[in-house]
Amino acid sequence: MGRHERVAALVGDDLAGQAVADLGCGPGRTVRALLAAGPARVHALDRASGLDDDLLADRRVRSRLADLDDGLPLDDGVLDAAVSLNVVEHLAAPVDHLVDCHRVLRPGGRLVLAHSDWDTALFTSTDDALTRALVDRFAAAAAGPSTRSDGFMGRKLPALADASAAAGAPWELTAVDVWADPHRRFDDGSVAWKVATAVLAAAADDPSLAARAAGWLEDLRALARAGQFLFAVTDVAVVLERR
Ligand SMILES: C[S@@+](CC[C@H](N)C(=O)[O-])C[C@H]1O[C@@H](n2cnc3c(N)ncnc32)[C@H](O)[C@@H]1O
Repeated sequence: MGRHERVAALVGDDLAGQAVADLGCGPGRTVRALLAAGPARVHALDRASGLDDDLLADRRVRSRLADLDDGLPLDDGVLDAAVSLNVVEHLAAPVDHLVDCHRVLRPGGRLVLAHSDWDTALFTSTDDALTRALVDRFAAAAAGPSTRSDGFMGRKLPALADASAAAGAPWELTAVDVWADPHRRFDDGSVAWKVATAVLAAAADDPSLAARAAGWLEDLRALARAGQFLFAVTDVAVVLERR
């Protein structure tokens, strides 16, 4: 079971008749995992239109382009559950966003708030010191298309939930889950390759790290070819029940 299936399982095994939402859905891997539990409706929200075609064609899926920083385009109390995976680090005001999530959930509805804690990224390499320096840089720097990031977001989720409760969104924190999926592949497009590529992007404005980064990538490729490669990152999920 991968991270998307784990997040969906925290929402529930039987979502028959329920309305759920994936907030910042990307291509929709969590949407697909949610559909397996039989909900009546999955609202797939993102500011970019990257939802996979089969999901766009699924009558249970309602794709909505929305900037979560502008508030959720949903009425009060319409959702039975919502999930958010690796999104809140990109938002301008994550606490306000959680207050808004509380608004759109019915009483007793669940929010599964999940995030990788990028500072825990683990790569097998032949140069541990370089890997440490690159991961430190990655955890500290904004990388990729977003100008906002937080390499320590996973471990901050319980505090974020608390802050939103203090801001007027009372939740019961019913579960905290932590896992790390193993990834052995390093071919282009694999999860490990995507994260390593983001690590390189974060090192780009540090000349001494950037000069060694291409060699680091080749090292990881060679280890994968030899069957010695492992990548993992700790994922954290909190399950919040709307009071
Ligand atoms: C790292 S991806 C995660 C995608 C998906 N949840 C997953 O785990 O595969 C972050 C997603 O958040 C979306 N996103 C970031 N900021 C956003 C915003 N302000 N409003 C809506 N979506 C946003 C991005 O477009 C992207 O699809």
